[in-house]
Amino acid sequence: MPPMVDIYNSSAGQNGWLSKVVIMDCQHLSFPDLTFTHIFLSFGLPIIADRVAAAAQEFYTMKTGGTAVTAFCLNIPQGDMAREMRHKVWRSDATVTIEPHLKHKDPNFNRELLVQMGFRFEDVRLYEKSNILKVEDICEFVFAILSAIREEAEGWTEDDDERWDEAIKIHKMLLSEKKGYHADENRNIKLGIVAQIAIMRKEV
Ligand SMILES: C[S@@+](CC[C@H](N)C(=O)[O-])C[C@H]1O[C@@H](n2cnc3c(N)ncnc32)[C@H](O)[C@@H]1O
Repeated sequence: MPPMVDIYNSSAGQNGWLSKVVIMDCQHLSFPDLTFTHIFLSFGLPIIADRVAAAAQEFYTMKTGGTAVTAFCLNIPQGDMAREMRHKVWRSDATVTIEPHLKHKDPNFNRELLVQMGFRFEDVRLYEKSNILKVEDICEFVFAILSAIREEAEGWTEDDDERWDEAIKIHKMLLSEKKGYHADENRNIKLGIVAQIAIMRKEV
C-alpha cells in the first residue's frame, strides 16, 4: 500500500475530516449502490482491463441526482508512442504494462460506453480541453516513459541501461512523428495534449 494512503488517513482522523482513502479494484467496488454524490474517474477507463465493468460501477455507486466526471486522452503524443518505442528498442512482440485501448481516441465511443452503462445520452456532456506539455529534459522524459511502460515490475534493469542511448534516439524519432509534436529552432520540444472530459448527471 503506498505510504501516502496512511499519511492521508491519519491526517483525516486527526482533523476530523469526513473522508478516507481506500484502494480497491474499480471493476469490483465494494461500496453499496447509490453511495456517492460525486465520482471522478480520471484517465483510467482506457487502461482498465474491463472498462465496461468499471463504467458500470461508476453508474451504480452514484446516487440519483449525482455527478460523475470521467476524463479520456484524445491525443497524447508520448503515450501514443510508448508501445511503439518498447517494440522498436526491445522486441516486436514485447508486452507493455500500460496498453491503452485505442477506441477511446474516438469521442463518440466514449459517450456510447457511458450510455451503454446506464447514463442517458442527454445527461452526458462532453468537453475538450487542450494543453501544452513542455519537455524540459528529454533524458528525464524518456526515463519516465520507459519506467511506466516496462514489461517487468521490478525496476530499472541492466538491459535498460545498455539500451539507453538507443532508447533516446528512437524516442526522439517516434515522438517527432506524432500529432501535437512541436520543436522550435533551438530544439525546445512542446507536446500538444487533448483531453475529453465527460460530465454525467444521473437523473434516473
Ligand atoms: C493514467 S493513470 C491516471 C492517474 C490519475 N487518475 C490521474 O488522472 O492522473 C491510470 C490509473 O488507473 C489505475 N488503475 C488501473 N487499473 C485499475 C483498476 N482495475 N482499479 C483501480 N485503478 C486502476 C492505475 O494504477 C493508474 O494509477
